[in-house]
Amino acid sequence: MTDHFLGFGLGLRTQHFHDVLETQPEVDWFEIISENFMVAGGKPKYYLHQIRERYPMVMHGVSMSIGSTDPLDMNYLQKLKSLINEVQPEWVSDHLCWTGLEGVNSHDLLPMPYTEEAIDHVAARIRQVQDYLGRQMLIENVSSYISYAESRMTEWEFYSEVVERADCLMLLDVNNIYVSSRNHDFDAEAYLNAINPARVRQFHLAGHSDFGTHVIDTHDHDVPDPVWALYRKAIERFGPVSTMIERDDNIPALTDLVAELDIARGIAADVLPDLTTRTSATREPVSA
Ligand SMILES: [Fe+2]
Repeated sequence: MTDHFLGFGLGLRTQHFHDVLETQPEVDWFEIISENFMVAGGKPKYYLHQIRERYPMVMHGVSMSIGSTDPLDMNYLQKLKSLINEVQPEWVSDHLCWTGLEGVNSHDLLPMPYTEEAIDHVAARIRQVQDYLGRQMLIENVSSYISYAESRMTEWEFYSEVVERADCLMLLDVNNIYVSSRNHDFDAEAYLNAINPARVRQFHLAGHSDFGTHVIDTHDHDVPDPVWALYRKAIERFGPVSTMIERDDNIPALTDLVAELDIARGIAADVLPDLTTRTSATREPVSA
């Protein structure tokens, strides 16, 4: 088992703050959306600290726009660094994408053109951010619906090369791989097989909307069977990797998500019979 295996987590959502504290569910860790806690105080911070005292946490950002040609937003990075100091997360992640140009935020995680020039650009920027934060980051693959005529390689070749040159780690979103494989008609298993296991630190699982001709990464459904099947392949290839379910819309009761997480535990236990994870029965208070 790797040192970095946290077990099975959930994305912490506002709707569940109270229930998490009240019921202390059998969730091994929580992932927070960093931007939601870049505030001075109030209710979100109260719950953040209370929950952090009880669970390991990781931080996940959505607006670094690491692939953009705009200058890095130092104001944002400063807020991120101060939140890192406050939360003391196990790790920090953002996406391999750009979200806007010339100060205009599209609020979408837009894919990169898969070119040498883009690799140079984004790898240098990830290094710059890692230097500023004083830690390695995890970079996540996004789902995509468009591609660029300029692209000269596959997504997995591009992603792998960026990660090697930036010397960062990977947050592999299994649902995003599935969604993009459908939209761009590639083999999702070939994607997994091309990834260097030493770089993989976390998995995301989520649901999507399947329109037949195309699939949209909506995070508003249960994890569907093809994503569970791909998750099994991912565990077979990468071994025990910290896994979490992302649910951002149509959010069910916490108990439903905990039950869904048990499916992930079951698949992992099936593939890796020696796997053991912490549960609430053995959880010690953790201090940030
Ligand atoms: Fe994700």
